[in-house]
Amino acid sequence: MRHIMVLNAKGGCGKSTLATNIASYYATQGAAVALADYDPQRSSLDWLARRPDDRARIAGVAGFEDGLKHAPRNADILVIDAPARSHGAELADLVKHAETIVVPVLPSTIDMQATSTFLQELKDLNKVVKKQVKIGAVANRVRDNTLIYDDLDEYLTKARVPYIAALRDAQNYVRAYTRGLGIFELPEYLAWPDWDEWAPLTAWLRSVRSQP
Ligand SMILES: Nc1ncnc2c1ncn2[C@@H]1O[C@H](COP(=O)(O)OP(=O)(O)OP(=O)(O)O)[C@@H](O)[C@H]1O
Ligand SMILES: [Mg+2]
Repeated sequence: MRHIMVLNAKGGCGKSTLATNIASYYATQGAAVALADYDPQRSSLDWLARRPDDRARIAGVAGFEDGLKHAPRNADILVIDAPARSHGAELADLVKHAETIVVPVLPSTIDMQATSTFLQELKDLNKVVKKQVKIGAVANRVRDNTLIYDDLDEYLTKARVPYIAALRDAQNYVRAYTRGLGIFELPEYLAWPDWDEWAPLTAWLRSVRSQP
């Protein structure tokens, strides 16, 4: 089973949004997908509860301590929505459970600053747990022609982890969440700009570059 974790110690950067959309992406591709929610806020499980029965099935896994025990054995992909404010021993435990970590970052000075500290902690941990987890950063909720997006773009280009994709700020994400869907499951005429933006992220996830 492949473990893809969406993680950033910073709150509100889009972890649950990315986790649910990654799960929906793989499910629509025909993979057996499980979605583990390690956050007591249970946003991913809430999304799953909204998912219509006629959509590609995604199995839900609750809780952190007993989470992986309940992960369906036949799942191809386990997407993990991790809680904010994970540091130290808790973060080390999370990192041990993943081969791939996606780090969403918002166009905001506060978020970039917090992410710098977090990425350093993550890189140090990666050496300690000797797992060679592959980490990729994704700019989230970007708005074209804003100075702060230029700053984020420059920051992620220079960051010590690969800069995989930039996703726009769009109501499609809000709409899709409300309906228990991913943006890949919205009509093409609405969601094609988001599909285009996701292409480098899904290509990375499918490639050996995101796997140890
Ligand atoms: N690309 C986007 N476009 C528009 N809204 C977005 C986008 N990404 C996230 N959001 C919105 O931003 C808010 C925070 O996103 P989300 O809950 O996914 O973040 P989180 O990192 O999981 O937060 P927490 O740390 O509280 O778990 C939500 O209201 C979500 O709908
Ligand atoms: Mg969340």
